[in-house]
Amino acid sequence: DSDPASTSGGGGGGDDLIKVGFSQLGAESGWRTANTESVKASLTKENGIDLTFVDAQQKQENQIKALRDFVDQGVDVIAFSPVIETGWDEVLQDIKDAEIPVVLVDRTVETTVEDPFVTWIGADFKQEGTTAGEWVKENHPDAKIFELQGTMGSGAQTDRQEGFREVVGANVIGEASGNFTRAEGKTATEAALAAYPDMDLIFAHNDDMGLGAIEAIEAAGKKPGEDIKIVTVDGVRDGLQALVDKKFNFVVECNPVFGDQIVDLIKKVDAGETVEKETIVVDEAFDQTITQEFVDARSF
Ligand code: AHR
Repeated sequence: DSDPASTSGGGGGGDDLIKVGFSQLGAESGWRTANTESVKASLTKENGIDLTFVDAQQKQENQIKALRDFVDQGVDVIAFSPVIETGWDEVLQDIKDAEIPVVLVDRTVETTVEDPFVTWIGADFKQEGTTAGEWVKENHPDAKIFELQGTMGSGAQTDRQEGFREVVGANVIGEASGNFTRAEGKTATEAALAAYPDMDLIFAHNDDMGLGAIEAIEAAGKKPGEDIKIVTVDGVRDGLQALVDKKFNFVVECNPVFGDQIVDLIKKVDAGETVEKETIVVDEAFDQTITQEFVDARSF
């Protein structure tokens, strides 16, 4: 069961399927939906995998329960995207005691357990924050920035913030979490518009919160992209549409479509082959020069 990943055929019937428990952290954003679609499209029986997929709805306790269930079910490999970085020590120790290899997806963990996972695949969140900060520094060096943070304590929040602030931290006049959702991005921006009337740039840790910010800014009678510039991370179709519509100013990509690479890693891990400790998914960045055709052709 260690064939290289193939998009069709191969693997197939019977007992040689690799039993995989995948704990997805939620469905909070367009990015997450695209990532889940990619996982489900790739971790298939045709590709040699018998997948049990559980959505934790952004609650760590749900995720821990799912991981424990996977141990009880005796899966061959556990894959998961941890909602926050800490709080996994006990369950990771239990998984280790059960000798089930772990493939970490997207976000990372901080734990006292030694060698808690075999391999991790995801984006370089810190670099994403740095890229956003460098664009701001070059284009709006005097900006008064409000930072719309993702889920507090998640790798995507801490690392994007760190990378961004290393470049333009002195310009940040306020911050609040929008938990990576459009609704909370909107309410956090409403509060920020009242608390920081002179803010003129928002750095949102994802597109969805930036889209929520657009709604709040327009409701306040201001122009997103002009009165208040918006810089985001992800580059899902809705985010890039806002860029073409000149409501976003700059978007750093975080590519969610890497299910095929996850399959490849799972097969190697299951076969006991050596794998890289880290696989970084490659990202780009976009400004308002992208075209409508480009957005329409976007696969996520
Ligand atoms: O962990 C990746 C982040 O999680 C994405 O940037 C965000 O949209 C998602 O919710």
